Amino acid sequence: MSGAVETLRVELADRGYDILVGPGLIAAAGAHILPLMRRKQAVVVTDETVAATHLEPLVAGLGAAGIAHHPIVLPPGEGTKDLAHFGRLVDDVLACTIERGTMLVALGGGVVGDICGFAAATLLRGIDFVQVPTTLLAQVDSSVGGKTAINTAAGKNLLGAFYQPRLVLADSGALATLPRRELLAGYAETVKYGLIADAGFFNWLEAESGRVCGLEPAALNRAVITSCRMKAEIVAADERETGDARALLNFGHTFGHALEAETGFGDALLHGEAVALGMVLAFDFAVRLGICSGQDATRVRRHVAAMDLPTELGAIGLASKADALLAHMGKDKKVRDGKITLILPRRIGDAYVMRDAGAEDLRAFLAEAA
Ligand code: NAD
Ligand code: GLY
Repeated sequence: MSGAVETLRVELADRGYDILVGPGLIAAAGAHILPLMRRKQAVVVTDETVAATHLEPLVAGLGAAGIAHHPIVLPPGEGTKDLAHFGRLVDDVLACTIERGTMLVALGGGVVGDICGFAAATLLRGIDFVQVPTTLLAQVDSSVGGKTAINTAAGKNLLGAFYQPRLVLADSGALATLPRRELLAGYAETVKYGLIADAGFFNWLEAESGRVCGLEPAALNRAVITSCRMKAEIVAADERETGDARALLNFGHTFGHALEAETGFGDALLHGEAVALGMVLAFDFAVRLGICSGQDATRVRRHVAAMDLPTELGAIGLASKADALLAHMGKDKKVRDGKITLILPRRIGDAYVMRDAGAEDLRAFLAEAA
């Protein structure tokens, strides 16, 4: 894959860092990481699927840069983000005789990034880490911004920390091996940025989605860079989601998490697929409340459907599950004083935080939204 590497910056004072986007970054990771190292030792955390194609070039580059390296390969899938795997991971990292100057390198999708980031946040009370995201979802969302977490018996992402990486290397070439279903799920998160704050970007995605998801270098890089730039600006403004800025990134996610919970957080419905349907539901609910026009909702539904992403509860077996979905929404991390927070659109490119969505309105909406 050809094209130039572009650099963006997450401006967070002494915790600021670069995001590099473009081809060849996995093989060149050693050279990019070396200047950030206090000790020339890296522990690379990845999963079996990613290791099969992308670990060798990464470790070759670390070796060429004179960096000692130890790979740790986890099983793929959301099930890896649990306490048992976390316990084994930190034991395995400690067995590499690390020091505070050791760098953890997360090579993989959001699962590897989240568990490795949380390990970095807690090992020796915090060691440096680098994100090398290999899914589109991880490149446009999870690798940037410092949210790290694992799941517990009580729910998803409930044990974690805000902990920023030192560098993000988003290698566009990595996406060539990604299954199309995973690519489209990640694409849903790029659509999210257009819908919350950039109507022009959404217009562009509607026109160019074929080239983006066909991995044409110029289109793909523009989609990833536009998404990362928006995320970097939002994170710089509201790192710990104490205001409304970062909360906007949860657009489609309150509905989406409920859908994922009800389908068991697995292959039945991928995170990005749940977000896609969640965004459609958010538009439909906003139309019902008289906040947003039906034309905008129709346009969003049409684009989501065109990308082979789900637009109907019935299509994923969740028709007539209103009570169960509402119960999941009531357990969302964003619930305050028992009130459900929703991110709702006023129009394409303009979303806001509604702190007190009415449970009865939501129940009636979900019951009818089959
Ligand atoms: P994932 O990490 O499970 O990756 C999806 C699948 O693709 C896995 O089977 C993986 O092995 C495989 N894969 C990864 N890269 C590949 C490649 N280049 N070629 C072939 N196969 C590849 O899932 P994901 O969608 O990347 O991330 C989902 C996770 O991210 C969830 O746990 C979610 O909670 C988390 N997340 C975190 C944040 C955050 O801000 N921290 C944001 C969004 C999502
Ligand atoms: N994915 C939402 C956030 O990073 O805040």
